[in-house]
Order: sequence, then C-alpha cells, then structure tokens
Amino acid sequence: MEMKPQTIPGSVNLVTVVDVHHWTETLFSFRVTRPDSFRFRSGEFVMIGLMVNGKPLLRAYSVASPAWDHELDFYSIKVQDGPLTSRLQKIQVGDEILLGKKPTGTLVLDALLPGKTLYLLSTGTGIAPFASVIRDPDTYERFERVVLTHTCRTVPELAYGEKLVADTINDPLVGEMVDGRLIHYTSTTREDHPRTGRITDLIANGKLFTDLGMSPFNPETDRVMICGSMAMLNDTKALVEAAGLEEGSNAKPGQFVIEKAFAG
Ligand code: A2P
Repeated sequence: MEMKPQTIPGSVNLVTVVDVHHWTETLFSFRVTRPDSFRFRSGEFVMIGLMVNGKPLLRAYSVASPAWDHELDFYSIKVQDGPLTSRLQKIQVGDEILLGKKPTGTLVLDALLPGKTLYLLSTGTGIAPFASVIRDPDTYERFERVVLTHTCRTVPELAYGEKLVADTINDPLVGEMVDGRLIHYTSTTREDHPRTGRITDLIANGKLFTDLGMSPFNPETDRVMICGSMAMLNDTKALVEAAGLEEGSNAKPGQFVIEKAFAG
C-alpha cells in the first residue's frame, strides 16, 4: 500500500497497523498506533481510511478500545464491492492507514443522565463503540450494572463480542471492577443458538428482562445506548420511547442515545 506523504490532508494522521484479526469471511478487526495528540471519549467514532488513487477515502468508524489504551482498535465488516472495506480488509501489520484528528459521537456517558443500569444494545458491528464503553472505568463509576446485548445473524458473528467480554473480565486494569457487573446477552436470528430472536422482539415480549431477572425499562433508573443498522435503530428507539425514555445528546443529556453502525 503506497502513500505519498505530501498528499495526506492536514485533517488526518498516518498511523501504523500493529495487529489484524479476521473473525469470519465478512468481519475483521485491527489495531493501530495512537498519536500522542489523539484524544477521544469512550464510545466516539472517527474517520479512518486509505489513500486511493492519490485521494483520501475515509469512512466513520467507532473506536473499539477504551480511552486509556495506548493503541486504537477498530471492528469492521468486509464488503466485497465496498470502496473502502474491499481495500481495508487487505491491510497487514506494518501498513499505514489514515486516522482523522477529530473524534465525535453521541454514544458517550456524558450524553446520559445518571442511572443505575446501563443497557448497550447492539447488532452486527454495532458492538464496536461498546467495546470501548465496557472497558472505561467511568462506566462503572456511573452505573451499578451494565448489560451488553449483541444480536447477529449467525453464531460465528458473535465471536468478537465473546472474546471482548472474556478479555475485559480478565483485564488487569478493569477486570475487577467489571466482574459481576457486566452482563453479556447474545442472540442470533438466522442460526441455532441457545437464544434466538431480534433484540426488538426480546424487548417487546419481555424475554430480555425475564432472562436477566430485571424489570422492564424504567425511565428513573435505566439508561440505553443503541447501535446497529438504521432499521434496528428506528425499531429499538420506538420501544425505548414507548417505555418513557427520552433521547439525550452531548448538549442535553437524556435517558437514551443512538448511533448508526458503520456499514460500507
Ligand atoms: P434478521 O436476521 O432478522 O434480519 P444486519 O447484518 O442486517 O445489520 O443484521 C444484524 C442483526 O440485526 C441480525 O440479527 C438482524 O436480524 C438484526 N436486525 C435487522 N433489522 C433489525 C431491526 N429492524 N430491528 C432489530 N434487529 C434487526
């Protein structure tokens, strides 16, 4: 992958790939160096990409590692004809990629009012920002309990989240804080698994709460972050709004926040 330094725009840094992991034929994750100047809040996204035909090709990606980490993780789908991901999936250790200088986003603790239980509802690569949030000590200072739900079409697509949660519980820095307070709740929709069904159905029919031994969404105590496809966001948002929760933002914290997962 050739990059001419003089063509790199000022809005991005060049960072080096230090690890790549292919989870399935359509999912991979990678780790890059973190410039000293790169600051972000857990849950935020940033533009990343490659130089293609002498021009920067950038897409929004959630940072999938916590703000205290010295490197940065990303989790991506591979789209066969995707302008960026068809190329990005070929990166190897030692390659350089572009990293935007201005992370932003709404899936941040500051956009939520104080509460007791934090629900992180994700489908597919929508788990990426929560890979950051569940490893942030601030999350456990603000909430007694964190429920991370991850729904995918097939069982192999759940592997990233399974390893993430296991690694988080074993992490020397946050493991002790997380143990017993982080609940990982998975389901599949197109393959057999101990639990099947869309998260929207599991909320609507009450199974999520029965399985957890918890009460349905309560605007007084429960806060929700949602990340998935546009359709998933719309349907899940309707359910949490029906439960009386109000959407928050950085400017006006509320009871839930949403963000579209990167998709192309
Ligand atoms: P399903 O298999 O029933 O479509 P995708 O890869 O299309 O983003 O899907 C990821 C997961 O999100 C799948 O399990 C899929 O279920 C689920 N999903 C898709 N649309 C919705 C929706 N509107 N509400 C809730 N879950 C959804």
